[in-house]
Amino acid sequence: MSQVYLNGAFMAPEAAQVSPMDRGFLFADGIYEVIPAYNGVLFRLDEHLERLERSLREVAMDNPHDRQQWQALCEELIERNGGGNISVYLQITRGAALKRDHAFPEPPVTPTVFMMTSPVAVPAADSPDSASGSKAITLDDIRWARCDIKSVSLLPNSLLRQQAVAAGAIEAILLRDGFVTEGSASNVFIVDDGTIVTPPRSHAILGGITRDLVVELCRDHGLALEEREITEAQLKQADEIWITSSTREVVPIIQLNDHPVGSGAPGPLWKTLARHYVQFKRRLCGLE
Ligand code: PDD
Repeated sequence: MSQVYLNGAFMAPEAAQVSPMDRGFLFADGIYEVIPAYNGVLFRLDEHLERLERSLREVAMDNPHDRQQWQALCEELIERNGGGNISVYLQITRGAALKRDHAFPEPPVTPTVFMMTSPVAVPAADSPDSASGSKAITLDDIRWARCDIKSVSLLPNSLLRQQAVAAGAIEAILLRDGFVTEGSASNVFIVDDGTIVTPPRSHAILGGITRDLVVELCRDHGLALEEREITEAQLKQADEIWITSSTREVVPIIQLNDHPVGSGAPGPLWKTLARHYVQFKRRLCGLE
């Protein structure tokens, strides 16, 4: 039976209870991380914990645990849930105050810490030659101006993703003022005339851990890559489009709205990158 972690204890999900006065419930006043593990080994844990620290700092919350404690909690939760290929979701909210007030509770209250796991589906990048690719649609980016914070305030992302699903797509690629920002829960790459392009880090996008790894792999393997703005026209004329996230890794998008992307099949640069990604993952997680 699966187990979750809440405020110091491991328990069955049905036993986990949070107060309705929790600021996560009332104000979406919290931040989160999603960390994949393969073969039970946490993937890029330091990078995820560094981003967690940054998110907490940006919303003026103390970190309830140091890195060693986070690692121990993640590892114990993974083990209690059977190990293998699994992702850890962890969330910290500002905690439950006695009254509802937009301003932070004074004196501060104890933060709420919740963690759970989910199985990781077999990613497309694991089998580059048989991957079929997926559809995405474009939508206006209706989110706030601090998308670099991994906040649990995901209503706009949820509304956008639902529109994508209703259109038979796996993701909504978002446009702000005529430029690509990111996906509703992923970062975006295109191939433009042989160059791999992704928008630069800014307040408009989440600094994706998978994005950063793809950038690193491109550089390590001599693939031409630029971090620069992508216009709507460049997106629509791209030879390849990829989306990246910790739970999906690197997914080729073969249809954008009603049009094929490039040849309408996963492109050659995606296949090359996918091979490097899988090799990196296998080496790091002892899967070879
Ligand atoms: N989301 N951008 C947004 C808005 C995201 O929500 C995510 C990931 C990413 C990719 O980041 P990373 O490579 O670090 O996973 C980019 C997670 C998986 C989620 O909300 O479940």
